[in-house]
Amino acid sequence: MNVIDAIRTRRAVRLFTEQPVPDEIIQTILDAGRRSQSSKNTQPWQFIGIRERATLTALSKMGDYAGHLAGAAFAVVLVGKEDTRSIAFDVGQAAALMQIAAWEQGIGACIASIYRPDEAKQLLGIPAEMSAYYALSFGYPSPEHQPAKLGGRKALDDVVRWEKWD
Ligand SMILES: Cc1cc2nc3c(=O)[nH]c(=O)nc-3n(C[C@H](O)[C@H](O)[C@H](O)COP(=O)(O)O)c2cc1C
Repeated sequence: MNVIDAIRTRRAVRLFTEQPVPDEIIQTILDAGRRSQSSKNTQPWQFIGIRERATLTALSKMGDYAGHLAGAAFAVVLVGKEDTRSIAFDVGQAAALMQIAAWEQGIGACIASIYRPDEAKQLLGIPAEMSAYYALSFGYPSPEHQPAKLGGRKALDDVVRWEKWD
């Protein structure tokens, strides 16, 4: 699958099989995040990989729409070195690359917003000054996975303007 096809076809996957994801594929996904760009190349992130079912289940209760974490083969908690706008942007880019790298290898993914980051930080021992607003679920898509009906994208003409706002 080339990059354009991966971008065109990727949809959020929230239902996974129980098949474990091989370590070398997990490494490739994490490495895609590591290779992401960042402001001034500060690489202001740490990625906490989670495979323990009890931890995945606990995390799944820390966001109102984070239930998919409970059934993931593994998750990655995205930790920002500090809690700033620039770092939030950087971490988001790393998340995008990890999800595209996963899809290219047949692994589905979905973002989980952590609504109660202090609880997640306590669970995982993340220092107070760092941010932990998002996690990513990963796993082989379940045969029951259906792309969400709310999906689809606006037409290019609806989101692109040239030269000026109007
Ligand atoms: C910042 C952000 C936060 C998100 N938080 C959640 C979440 O908490 N739970 C969830 O199931 N999906 C979450 N998503 C996934 C979006 O719902 C999904 O990307 C969007 O609906 C498009 O899905 P599609 O690619 O299947 O069309 C989040 C996505 C982003 C970019």
